[in-house]
Amino acid sequence: MSTIFSFKQFQVEQEGASFKIGTDAMILGSLITFDKAKSALDIGSGTGVLSLMVAQKHPDLFIDAIDIDDVNCHLMEVNFTKSPFDNRLRVIKHDFITFHFQRKYDLIFTNPPYFLGSLENNELRQASSRHFTISSMRDFVKKITVCLEIGGLVYIILPAENFSQWENVFKENQMFLDEIIEVEGKLNQLIRIIAVFSTESKELKKNKLIIRNEKGLYSNEYIDLTKEFHAHELTSD
Ligand SMILES: C[S@@+](CC[C@H](N)C(=O)[O-])C[C@H]1O[C@@H](n2cnc3c(N)ncnc32)[C@H](O)[C@@H]1O
Repeated sequence: MSTIFSFKQFQVEQEGASFKIGTDAMILGSLITFDKAKSALDIGSGTGVLSLMVAQKHPDLFIDAIDIDDVNCHLMEVNFTKSPFDNRLRVIKHDFITFHFQRKYDLIFTNPPYFLGSLENNELRQASSRHFTISSMRDFVKKITVCLEIGGLVYIILPAENFSQWENVFKENQMFLDEIIEVEGKLNQLIRIIAVFSTESKELKKNKLIIRNEKGLYSNEYIDLTKEFHAHELTSD
């Protein structure tokens, strides 16, 4: 089976990646929009899929993509080099929490290792793609706020069940919830929250996205949201 995931304008090689492309990335990458942004940071960028999607939608944006994993960073280099956006994308191979950034960013986006608690998965690389301890989560959020420009935005996807823990830590770091998109796997089955945090307090916007319809097929709203990225047309019947 091919390990290449094809998009309309680019391809993503994911052979050996600790985390493969899923609907989380498709939805988050399609929703991220900040036309004013000149610089962005993709934290825990994996194969680089989110950076590539965001670069496609924002033709003037420069993106730094940081990941701790050697194999992921190698794949990212390959995927960026082969893409039409190579001159605007840079890979940083390092632990985000300890990396010394020389600059701040207008836009930060992340599909982080969002399950909180002990590492239950024996495969360490895969476990560290999915899990954070509470203390590393606190360090992660604090570091995000250090890296963000005043007036900047943070897009993050989180599991619905521990969203409030993350939200509290953002609030403790003087970040305001600007928008939430509730993601339901199917009607009334809340699985993820996409949150947009900002450095300024604004009126909260609330939206909802249902991934699959009553027939178990992709919903029209999911197809519509992701249509500028999918290489093959999806259908809802
Ligand atoms: C859930 S995966 C997301 C991958 C990709 N962004 C996507 O959406 O498909 C989380 C990623 O975070 C990376 N990661 C985990 N801890 C990290 C850290 N402290 N610093 C940088 N990257 C980290 C992992 O290697 C993994 O690639």
